[in-house]
Amino acid sequence: MAIIKAVRGTRDLLPPETELWSRVETTARGVFARYGFGEIRTPLFEATELFARGVGEETDIVSKEMYTWEDRGRAESDKGQSLTLRPENTAGVVRSYIEHHLDETGLLQKLFYIGPQFRRERPQRGRYRQFWQIGAEVLGPQFSGSDSALRDAEVLEMLATLLDELGIKGWRLALNSVGSANDRKHYSAALRDALAPVKHKLCEDNQRRAETNPLRVLDSKDPNDQEIINGLPKIADFLGEDSRVHFEQVKAALDACGVPYVIDPRLVRGLDYYTRTTFEFTVPDGSGLGTQNALLGGGRYDGLSEMLGGPKAPGIGFAIGEDRLILTLQAQAQEKELAKLDAFVAPMGVAQNPDALKLARELRAAGLRIEVGDGAFRLRKSFETADKLSNKMIIVGEDEVNSGLFTVKNFAKGEQEKIPRAELAAALKL
Ligand code: HAM
Repeated sequence: MAIIKAVRGTRDLLPPETELWSRVETTARGVFARYGFGEIRTPLFEATELFARGVGEETDIVSKEMYTWEDRGRAESDKGQSLTLRPENTAGVVRSYIEHHLDETGLLQKLFYIGPQFRRERPQRGRYRQFWQIGAEVLGPQFSGSDSALRDAEVLEMLATLLDELGIKGWRLALNSVGSANDRKHYSAALRDALAPVKHKLCEDNQRRAETNPLRVLDSKDPNDQEIINGLPKIADFLGEDSRVHFEQVKAALDACGVPYVIDPRLVRGLDYYTRTTFEFTVPDGSGLGTQNALLGGGRYDGLSEMLGGPKAPGIGFAIGEDRLILTLQAQAQEKELAKLDAFVAPMGVAQNPDALKLARELRAAGLRIEVGDGAFRLRKSFETADKLSNKMIIVGEDEVNSGLFTVKNFAKGEQEKIPRAELAAALKL
């Protein structure tokens, strides 16, 4: 019978790799806690309209990549609804902020999330249809300081700290400002004018966007369109005084913290909700990501809450591609150390199985990582299994149980010694 495989663009994460995933998540949770973030978990699917309004109809994400379906009502009276698997989590977080009136606390909300997102993209290394993001959002009423440049710098400084603590080498922060909604209106008009005479040379999607949402032409990856795109006006020349000052303040705070960055005037990011600060962290070629070198991206979204019918709630956030983070860590690791267990407990006969399990219980209670064999194994099989899983094997035979003196074989050193039961846990920790 034909076997059933995981769907294209999705994958299973298995041990020992999942150990690295948990280490990354534990480190991220630790850093988020130090910066005063609390965890938010929003549903994996939402009303399609949330993304259409929040992320933007003309973005690649909404126009091409969403998993959307018409959810039928369960009864005649129950109307159907268009639902979508979340392609990103910022819109969901802001929806939740509005729905639960978090603005009424008057406090800045600092929220983080770790979870899967779904986009129907062409799968390749570092690009999947189900992928994980580790993200965070800082938002609140203006009087909570949510639009202060200090918040932008704090988020970026936190990311630098997190990547350093994870051991990511050679990261590069690219920074830009896409201005206020008003600045963008002027910039869009300038782009539309600049595109009008050359529009016919662009790909079909870009011809349409040149009219409907010219900023999105800038994200286009179509190689034939790049020459025209490179010649277009730059957002930096359209920033109003407020946006310019805000951007200067972000840079000054980063300089004070010693966080390095480069200004990338082309960085507009592929989602419509961004205003003012936008950023991406990349890693050098050869870091395991192939062409997908954006490890994470984010920015400010001062008008998103209003776009979703909520109160004014400026905010800034980011999402790290966790799959890409893991690929980078694996590629950058000097040696791939397979986490081995502290010991393998090998009963010498089926009669010793209960004693072996009892000993394993004692050692595990002492915090050691232990695997137990089976007395039905031949000695050779016990040895081979033990050698794969751990550097040490504890032999549990009748004599050992009676005398309370256990033989511990150390494969790495090629030695063996007898250790009293009461001293075993301490000896294995060495
Ligand atoms: P984004 O740039 O669309 O932004 O995604 C953020 C990160 O998710 C990317 O830099 C990448 O590492 C990862 N990513 C995106 N698509 C895939 C994929 N198909 N496979 C693997 N990894 C992928 C956002 O999602 C915004 N919500 C970020 C944000 C939060 N902005 C403000 N707050």
